[in-house]
Amino acid sequence: MPIPTIDFFNPSLAGYCIFIAIFFLTFYWHHCPQCMVPLPPGPRPMPFIGNLKDMTTKELWLRATEWATQFGDVCYVHVFGQGIVFLNSADVAFELLEKRGAIYSDKPHLIMVGELCGCKDMLPFLSYGDAFKRRRKLMQQALGSRNIPNYYVFLEHETRSFIKDLLDDPSNYIRSIRRYAGGLTLSVIYGHKVVSRDDEFLILAEESMNLLANKLAPGPGIWPVDIFPFLRYLPSWFPGAAFKQSAREWKMKIHEFVEKPYAHALKRIENGDILPSFLSTILGQKLDLSKEAENDVKWAANSMYAASADTTISTVCNFFLAMIYNPDVLAKAQQELDEVIGSERLPMFSDRASLPYIECVLNETWRWGCPVPLNLPHSLREEDVFRGMRIPKGSLVIANIWAMLRDESLYPAASEFRPERFAKEHNYSAETRRKMDPRNCIFGFGRRRCPGADLVESSIWLLIATIIAMLDISKAHDADGEVIEPVVDYDNLVFR
Ligand code: HEM
Repeated sequence: MPIPTIDFFNPSLAGYCIFIAIFFLTFYWHHCPQCMVPLPPGPRPMPFIGNLKDMTTKELWLRATEWATQFGDVCYVHVFGQGIVFLNSADVAFELLEKRGAIYSDKPHLIMVGELCGCKDMLPFLSYGDAFKRRRKLMQQALGSRNIPNYYVFLEHETRSFIKDLLDDPSNYIRSIRRYAGGLTLSVIYGHKVVSRDDEFLILAEESMNLLANKLAPGPGIWPVDIFPFLRYLPSWFPGAAFKQSAREWKMKIHEFVEKPYAHALKRIENGDILPSFLSTILGQKLDLSKEAENDVKWAANSMYAASADTTISTVCNFFLAMIYNPDVLAKAQQELDEVIGSERLPMFSDRASLPYIECVLNETWRWGCPVPLNLPHSLREEDVFRGMRIPKGSLVIANIWAMLRDESLYPAASEFRPERFAKEHNYSAETRRKMDPRNCIFGFGRRRCPGADLVESSIWLLIATIIAMLDISKAHDADGEVIEPVVDYDNLVFR
């Protein structure tokens, strides 16, 4: 799922427009009465461009965490007048995103991604209103914690397929993880069982995810048309307006991504052979929906499909990396599995309570891996004042989950992978345990918190328990038997 981006370096007429907009913004800032309340602290902005030069496209969470050390729990920057607020502690994120959720749950209005490319109905882009509430309710109905056991059979099936796939070709592990993530959501959401890597819907999802993550979201910010909406009215042949042609092509792919698996599932419901899934739960046999209701179901399904892939892939990759770097942890977890369930069968959900060390490994995988380090940006609907600081209306509000999970006072030696920090033997108070639990931040906050959290809490547990039971994981060797050191490069703006 892409973060909104602006190609600020596009040398087009956008430059002139930016200048004019900044002039008016600057004038406004110096003359409005409420501007007497100070903004939160942050790195000093430059005239016009603001903190553009302080921003980075690579691992922005590291820079944001340096600012947290320097400026505290709430930090403010602006880029061409667009305010960006970083919330650097779980307490502050909870205060604002949860308790003041009525004004902190909106999303930025994105013309390029949302309107021109047709993604505005995908939940992570959808503004906070009635459609959002209806779709979240549908997701809650199907993916609430009480429903998850209904999907255990699919989770087991996909986990086994994953192991088989991986053993067939370990060097292509990313493909196996991708297939696992896609296959899991296709079955849980659309009731469709993937049987080969050439599955039509799996390929469609891969293409669409690639589009969302790499094409719709290039570069460091948002598109010029998001700042200067009139650019959308330029003809595609006009210099600097080629984005319109791209948007048209991309919109067609997104349309397919939304419609095709949905139409296939409807046909299977009609035939009476759909597998238990989100769509079978929500639709049952009721296929004569109003246009509005059908849109809700269709987009809710697609949003979950789209939002689950990259997060799952990041989590599993980080888990492998942790095991490669920490063979002692892998050995200890394998020993626990051997002692508790033996080597005759694979782990099952009913074993979970008897495997405390695996639980610690999962906790630490969530914490250390931190798949979405800067959350997905929320947008502030009304101006707010917090601890004597003014947060302007329309600011992007970013929870710095990375800083929360690298807090040395809660997690000493935070950069190290140490599952023992979560062991029951520590005499922590209930309050400290609550604060330490990474699930309280890795899935985001408030009314936008990830609706797939309960599902992945089960799917990832089973996956890592099965991997630990079945596989030895270590660094690869080259043809001369020399160890190949892993090259770790986090090049995505949103996922780690
Ligand atoms: C490793 C797994 C996952 C992680 C770490 C994760 C994390 C997140 C985060 C941080 C957000 C943003 C929350 C916010 O804005 O405050 C989010 C949103 C979302 N996630 Fe997940 N997610 C995961 C898997 C899934 C799965 C499996 C699904 C669906 C089956 C899913 C569906 C969604 C949707 C639809 C949203 C948008 C919610 C909204 O804007 O209201 N996620 N997720």
